[in-house]
Amino acid sequence: MTVIGPSLSGAKLWIMGGNMHKVATGDGARRLEISARRQGEFRRSEHVRAVEVFEVTAVKERTHVEMERVEGVGLAIVCPQWVDHAAEVVNFVSRQVDNARMGRVPLNALLEKIDEVRTETRRKHGNHPVFEQGFIDTISLIDDARDVAVPFGYYHGDLTLCNVLCDCEKNPPWGVALIDFLDMVLPTPLFDIAKIRQDTERMWITLFTPEVDPVRLTAIDDIVLENFSSYDWWDPWYPVFDLLNLLRLLPYAPPGRVTDWITAELERDQ
Ligand SMILES: Nc1ncnc2c1ncn2[C@@H]1O[C@H](COP(=O)(O)OP(=O)(O)OP(=O)(O)O)[C@@H](O)[C@H]1O
Ligand SMILES: [Mg+2]
Repeated sequence: MTVIGPSLSGAKLWIMGGNMHKVATGDGARRLEISARRQGEFRRSEHVRAVEVFEVTAVKERTHVEMERVEGVGLAIVCPQWVDHAAEVVNFVSRQVDNARMGRVPLNALLEKIDEVRTETRRKHGNHPVFEQGFIDTISLIDDARDVAVPFGYYHGDLTLCNVLCDCEKNPPWGVALIDFLDMVLPTPLFDIAKIRQDTERMWITLFTPEVDPVRLTAIDDIVLENFSSYDWWDPWYPVFDLLNLLRLLPYAPPGRVTDWITAELERDQ
């Protein structure tokens, strides 16, 4: 048995019998159950698939998922073609935007979520002026954007590059396999764009894998901008999802370099 870890979400991962096992307990158990269900229901599209889920066992605040293990862990590290594969992921999100239904954002649900994240952030980090300003700015941006419709539809929910595994050697022509889906407060691919750009624009991934080349990240970011920045919702709504994405990391962020990184990113925008 090979143990993988530790992860920010607090889940435990190990390899046994050639398969990947993931277990979450307490608050994370329900999250993992929903995530595994969404991963299992994923419909293949061109070169993007989800890692196959074999079994989900959820008993009393403990969820155990057994899934296929993809060899080429960490697209951005192992695969020489990873910029092309990342472009496939951007295309996948782009198709979700194209197939989406346009609608107004339910403000109450969004504001309630922000309030919840703010309460959890204060519990974890106290009343930090930069974080408080981040929440104020988000609410004020929402107020300006409220009349502009956004796309609603299918999304991954936690589309960082670490959740995109390289699958091209074992399973050609499948370029990538997705893991670690997450349910969000609103079903919109805007969350996925913000998550990809957490790595490609803000370069979060270099905190954990410093060998990733920033020039390549910027190349992917250019593809993201090319695909999405001319939509009507981009200017009013993207900054909201981007900021909310950063703030949502805070309740999980341990003190030290992760929290310092988020603080610096928020300060850069204020
Ligand atoms: N099915 C799999 N095949 C190969 N590697 C995997 C698989 N599932 C997870 N991993 C490896 O374990 C890492 C953590 O897994 P996962 O993203 O599911 O956990 P997590 O608890 O959400 O972690 P984090 O909070 O860091 O995203 C992945 O980034 C990947 O490197
Ligand atoms: Mg993950």
